[in-house]
Amino acid sequence: MSDMPRTTRALLHVLSRATARPMLDVASHLGAVARAAGCPYVHNDLTACDGARLAGVEAVHHTDLLPEGTYATICFDAREYDPLLAAETVAQAAARLAPGGALITTARRADVEPFFASVAVEAAGQDEVLVARRPLPAAVVLPQFYTYDVAFAGQTYTVQTAPGIFSPRGLDEGTRLMLGQVEARSGARFLDLGCGAGIVSRIAAEAWGCEVTAVDVSARALRMTALNAPAARLIASSGFQHLGAEQFDIIASNPPYHTDFAVARAFIEGARQHLAPGGLLYLVVKRSDWYVRKVRDLFGGCRLVEEQGYTLIIAEKRESRAAPATAPSATTRKHAKRMAAAKHRRPH
Ligand SMILES: C[S@@+](CC[C@H](N)C(=O)[O-])C[C@H]1O[C@@H](n2cnc3c(N)ncnc32)[C@H](O)[C@@H]1O
Repeated sequence: MSDMPRTTRALLHVLSRATARPMLDVASHLGAVARAAGCPYVHNDLTACDGARLAGVEAVHHTDLLPEGTYATICFDAREYDPLLAAETVAQAAARLAPGGALITTARRADVEPFFASVAVEAAGQDEVLVARRPLPAAVVLPQFYTYDVAFAGQTYTVQTAPGIFSPRGLDEGTRLMLGQVEARSGARFLDLGCGAGIVSRIAAEAWGCEVTAVDVSARALRMTALNAPAARLIASSGFQHLGAEQFDIIASNPPYHTDFAVARAFIEGARQHLAPGGLLYLVVKRSDWYVRKVRDLFGGCRLVEEQGYTLIIAEKRESRAAPATAPSATTRKHAKRMAAAKHRRPH
């Protein structure tokens, strides 16, 4: 309870006064609202869903869409959602609510007001919680997919995307740098780590003839990759968590930016374990110092290609590299322990 974010705490406070059923919890911290109300839980992010399951929430849906049905109350903690996906989720909620239903949310007021006849502000702690009632019968077309064209190596690829997906408006320049350097043979086992809209998977499968596995924590990213790279095998996974002992010839990633490097660390350490001997890691980053040190440390060396503020790190898994002289870092041990405990507790 002590590490519960203020937004979820504020929502629980308001909910204690207004909880008509049936109810749906969207994205509260570890499903705290679902636990308190005994209702289903939905989150676009797999890590959040795993956390809610471990906390004892039973009906957990890893999805970017609200489940079919009509609800009297939808509670949406927008804190962990990309702003565009949050705005869309508010519109989805309006479409799923009964005529007299209420949305209780920490979403932005500007995103809520167009969809409800009445929006009241609840002063709960420092966080603004809105109680929006009487959803308007808005012509909500959901979700709002749109397309852009990517020109690469003489081909044009039309990519479908949607709010909340990287990259939103066109091929990211870092990803372009990476794609331009990949050397892939037909049939290579290719891992697109953090696939986003799936453009890397698409090019690896269609242009290079690789056997592609695409991984992401975001349900929406996997949905988009299914559309854009139908040949790719999709796995919902945080990093390598659900990849067993699989080996790959190429692992390519434009990792998410997190200030504490936790995801990047898991990606690089996992890549070292999951690359076949002679396999290649391609990692494109900005502000590269930490990443370069980490890759050099684990792989014994790497090659750098720099362009337009991006650094592409290319590292080969050499079989002969001696085991590190030092013991694994405390973080690695802690991570492994946490993963093992989570696996043990996970129902499947
Ligand atoms: C910068 S985007 C790259 C998307 C795509 N590969 C591209 O280059 O256009 C990073 C992606 O990593 C995903 N991601 C974030 N954390 C992750 C994790 N722990 N495991 C797997 N994917 C993750 C995000 O959802 C996002 O789609």
